[in-house]
Amino acid sequence: MNNQDNLLTIAMPKGRIFEEAVELLRKAELPLPPEFEESRRLIIDVPEAGLRFMLAKPVDVPTYVEYGTADLGVVGKDVLVEEERDVYELLDLEISRCHMAVAGLPDWKPTHTPRVATKYPRLASRYFREQGHQVEVIKLNGSIELAPLIGLADRIVDIVSTGRTLRENGLVELEYIMPITSRLIANRVSYRMKSQQVDHICQRFSSVIGKGETE
Ligand code: PRP
Repeated sequence: MNNQDNLLTIAMPKGRIFEEAVELLRKAELPLPPEFEESRRLIIDVPEAGLRFMLAKPVDVPTYVEYGTADLGVVGKDVLVEEERDVYELLDLEISRCHMAVAGLPDWKPTHTPRVATKYPRLASRYFREQGHQVEVIKLNGSIELAPLIGLADRIVDIVSTGRTLRENGLVELEYIMPITSRLIANRVSYRMKSQQVDHICQRFSSVIGKGETE
């Protein structure tokens, strides 16, 4: 399905950000169908609000927005930094707060160029380059904490939210890289051509950002 009609299309990330993002939309009084959270549909139109929601894999949200198949998107800063897509970042939604960190086993002693496992190879490479440290980055797609436990990597770069995954796997946080929250992003053309609709959504979000957030 393409985006030829007048509905403003918002790409929403499925998974851990989704619930908080929906809560924010409801607080912003954007009329969502009651079954929004339970539905398995990937495209949900809300014509009375002039909105179309697309439910995408989080890492793909900036891609849909860059190519204009979505006008707006909700995405974590981690994905935004890693994907380096050509989009506008409009708002810090201040939800899904966590941080990016280097972690590892507490007793590891460097004897060679460290291998670093991560879902964020660009971000990790840039971080270590800026620190003046030479590392070998290994891209994984999930369960990153496994890598140091079974000897695939000496360190990991990953998001830390409650810290529970690190703790329960005997890993420790070693370096804080950056804070992470979800952002509202826009396609560059939509931002100009649909400026009224985009402004309206931004205003609705701005009126509720940071109110009653639970971390
Ligand atoms: C993320 C992240 C950590 C964990 C951190 O994984 O990669 O593994 O959450 O959360 P915590 O500090 O609250 O324990 P996610 O659940 O997204 O799954 P993944 O392992 O597939 O990346």
